Amino acid sequence: GELKSENVVWHKLSVSRDDRENLLKQKGVLIWFTGLSGSGKSTVANALQNKLYEKEKLTYILDGDNVRHGLNGDLGFTIEDRKENIRRIGELSKLFVDTGIITLATFISPLREDREQVRKLLNEDFIEVYIKCPLEVCENRDPKELYKKARDGKIKNFTGIDSPYEEPENPEITVDTSELSIDECIEKILEYLVSHKKVI
Ligand code: PPS
Repeated sequence: GELKSENVVWHKLSVSRDDRENLLKQKGVLIWFTGLSGSGKSTVANALQNKLYEKEKLTYILDGDNVRHGLNGDLGFTIEDRKENIRRIGELSKLFVDTGIITLATFISPLREDREQVRKLLNEDFIEVYIKCPLEVCENRDPKELYKKARDGKIKNFTGIDSPYEEPENPEITVDTSELSIDECIEKILEYLVSHKKVI
């Protein structure tokens, strides 16, 4: 607003999340994509991001490329390391959401308790999207030939093969990429986000 007095100096006021959100004309939220390798997490998140960009929304995708190579470059794929991976990504996501950015996180995040920990950290700003896809279909897609390597014993602790994946029990949204097209998946997600006023 307009300054009413010379003695009220704007720089003494702190800029809040609300202020940032007003500036961006949007609300910060964390859209958490979980699912097997090859289930389509990145594909769906990228398509959703394109849609949101068209609507002039500021988004950012946190994924293995920008997190596992940098911040979490010290972590591998033991259960312990995956837990720490998700814990750090949760904390990082919280900061992103506080900036007002619509944050999309695409990690296998195989353990229910780790995802619930992120949910607790973000409260109502956390939207869990289960990218559902039968293991056989993921294994058939095998875009990086990782399943083949896992079956041949060349990769240990591979999710779905010799490392667990725990399906979400109450995700806000489930999309099955073996049944729906990518467009249908993002329509379903957008519908939820708009009807629940998560994206304005
Ligand atoms: S986790 O479980 O959430 O910590 O995993 P994430 O950070 O999402 O990393 C998964 C990607 O790493 C590659 N990769 C493996 N995935 C599963 N298990 C093992 N052992 C493994 N080793 C490497 C794989 O390409 C995953 O990418 P996506 O995009 O999911 O296929």
